[in-house]
Amino acid sequence: MNTADIDTPALVVDLDAMERNLARMATFARERGLRLRPHAKMHKSAEIARQQIAAGAVGVCVQKTAEAEALAAGGVNDILITNEVVAPRKLARVARLALQLAARGGQLGLAVDSSEGVAALAAAMEGTPATLDVYIEIDVGHGRCGVAPGEPAVALGRQVASHPRLRLAGLQAYHGRAQHQRTLAERVATIAAATQATALTRDLIEAAGLGPLCITGAGTGTFALEAASGVWHELQAGSYLFMDADYAGNEADPQAPVFEHALFIKAQVISRQADRAICDAGHKSHAIDSGLPRVAWPEGLTFANGGDEHGILRAAQPGGPLPAIGETVWLIPGHCDPTVNLHDHLIGVRGGLQAGQVERSIRVDARGALT
Ligand SMILES: Cc1ncc(COP(=O)(O)O)c(C=O)c1O
Repeated sequence: MNTADIDTPALVVDLDAMERNLARMATFARERGLRLRPHAKMHKSAEIARQQIAAGAVGVCVQKTAEAEALAAGGVNDILITNEVVAPRKLARVARLALQLAARGGQLGLAVDSSEGVAALAAAMEGTPATLDVYIEIDVGHGRCGVAPGEPAVALGRQVASHPRLRLAGLQAYHGRAQHQRTLAERVATIAAATQATALTRDLIEAAGLGPLCITGAGTGTFALEAASGVWHELQAGSYLFMDADYAGNEADPQAPVFEHALFIKAQVISRQADRAICDAGHKSHAIDSGLPRVAWPEGLTFANGGDEHGILRAAQPGGPLPAIGETVWLIPGHCDPTVNLHDHLIGVRGGLQAGQVERSIRVDARGALT
């Protein structure tokens, strides 16, 4: 099937671009002796996770227990839940999954940031013949989850180490807001502060005899900075694989590889008025939390929100050409993670968007995996 035959609106992956991105990040990590554990909350696909692992990733990250279960069911064996799980019912699922992955020679990890969380986790793991890798999440300035760096993290480390079924594996140090700071100078300053807090905490925990620790974190906006810091061992970037319109707004870091847009919405013009063309992709087909899509093709068009089912296209320059009814429009989503979550399948194409062929359909295994 030609890309021309893909019904609209559809979420399409340019497999050639995706694989170049995948290889560039794998090479970046390998050349620096760093572990790569890409965040799979971005693509939510076991097939893509397995492709990343085949290219050298040690495993993947997820945010939710249900995402971990969905990827494990799809053959992914090494998974880190980079988030806090405290409900006993969910922790029972975590314990079951830890056992299931261990039986396949894999490993499950989980972030913790409270004494209550560690106690509940230890209770869930009691009697399970598997161990869970536990990462203490420290707040490196993001202001979301995470225990304060320094002594509070050491106390949690002691608590984790006191439970035989929990292995103190490392620190989770991720600064989410830094990813989207537009200037490189801002990101450099933010990650410098995060580096200091992380190194201090690592030193204290290791001095207490609880190390060595694996320091894990970083996203697409800052991973080259964490990599250069000498403190992080493992990179969690996810969006680099698809690259959304929001990330394209960041000032580039010359130390980071260049990533291409690989995720697109194929849409069609369904109405044409004097000053605008209206396409069939609204926010049922793409998320708008990080801004509207950008029009990749035809060039010279702006996209305005037309509601759930419509996008409004106007000429960027007064009097510029507008597409006709029936014409195809290719959009770059503003934010890839929640856009993927709106679709059951990604359509993988090879040979370019305009003239390429559909190679395969990729299941979004962890779509809607909220719990
Ligand atoms: C803990 C954690 N690590 C890594 C990432 C990956 O970030 P990105 O997709 O921006 O590369 C995220 C994304 O939200 C995250 O929450």
